[in-house]
Amino acid sequence: MSKPSLLILPGDGIGPEVMAEVRKIIDWFGAKGGIEFDVSEDLVGGCAYDKHGTPLTDATMARAQEVDAVLLGAVGGPKYDNLDFSVKPERGLLRLRKEMDLYANLRPAQCFDALADFSSLKKDVVAGLDIMIIRELTSGVYFGEPRGIFKEGNERVGINTQRYTESEIARVARSAFELARKRSNKVCSMEKANVMESGVLWREVVQEVRDAEYPDVELSHMYADAGAMQLTRWPKQFDVIVTDNLFGDLLSDLAAMLTGSLGMLPSASLGAPMANGRPKALYEPVHGSAPDIAGQGKANPIACVLSFAMALRYSFNEGAAADKLEAAVQKVLADGVRTADLLGAEGRSPVSTSEMGDAIVAALDAM
Ligand code: IPM
Ligand code: MG
Repeated sequence: MSKPSLLILPGDGIGPEVMAEVRKIIDWFGAKGGIEFDVSEDLVGGCAYDKHGTPLTDATMARAQEVDAVLLGAVGGPKYDNLDFSVKPERGLLRLRKEMDLYANLRPAQCFDALADFSSLKKDVVAGLDIMIIRELTSGVYFGEPRGIFKEGNERVGINTQRYTESEIARVARSAFELARKRSNKVCSMEKANVMESGVLWREVVQEVRDAEYPDVELSHMYADAGAMQLTRWPKQFDVIVTDNLFGDLLSDLAAMLTGSLGMLPSASLGAPMANGRPKALYEPVHGSAPDIAGQGKANPIACVLSFAMALRYSFNEGAAADKLEAAVQKVLADGVRTADLLGAEGRSPVSTSEMGDAIVAALDAM
């Protein structure tokens, strides 16, 4: 049997640094964990633009369609701020999401015990928090037409379009309900049905899917602004949250920060099953390219490492290996190993990106 294939796209900023640590973990599983991958690496984002004049070449896109899973670091940086929109680093990522049709973006927000003190919220509000945001990822205002900056009379007007079809809403709703069945059987759907027709349709379709196919799952609806407020007030009232592309972008950053650091949060972007039964899949940390700390060995690789754990779980059916990797991360945190973003008032000194990776490998060895 051939080994499962992984395409690694480290990208820009801290992407390559955090991905180098994931490579150590992949190597560990190959050598000692009995799970070998056929790994290839390529460019995405600003580095691809620098080399090829495009943030994602057709060849890389084709490769991403062939492999069993893609692991991505981060894209973007100030160097590219003034590029035309069509070749900005972010377009590379958006093209991957769109052409692979990765409509369900799973963003867990989990508060590690060792870090509960570190959240900007009170400890009892976040301790033990474990919620999952499912963000629609291939439609909505990110992709709707018309879009652009146009001339209207003697001034310019900027236009983006929020657009959702019933089937786009229904399929991501199904992802949420399926996942809820494996957790606490509870979904909260968020939109702005009070001001947006797309929100009215969203609410109706999510309810219809629930009534017809998932009557056992508890469903509630919330306006997204109230959802943001409730997420900071008492996040543990939620289990699975399903929402659109733009609200999901905002709410997932908010949820991430509840846990103490953006540097901790992984994500999985999943599409329909391929011929081999595995879903189309791309895994990436929720944090961005963090150009301010890039190249300094300060970045926290945990979000990227946990993204690989999600790949083990959702693409390769290696739940036990994923549990083991997550436990290794917990162990390292419990031992007080901290990158700079995880330093509170305790007066510890931070470890570097690669020291954190080494500590996780050592924890795997010790298990
Ligand atoms: C995210 C990011 C992206 C988004 C950017 C980099 C295009 O913020 O994955 O949350 O807006 O979706
Ligand atoms: Mg975002």
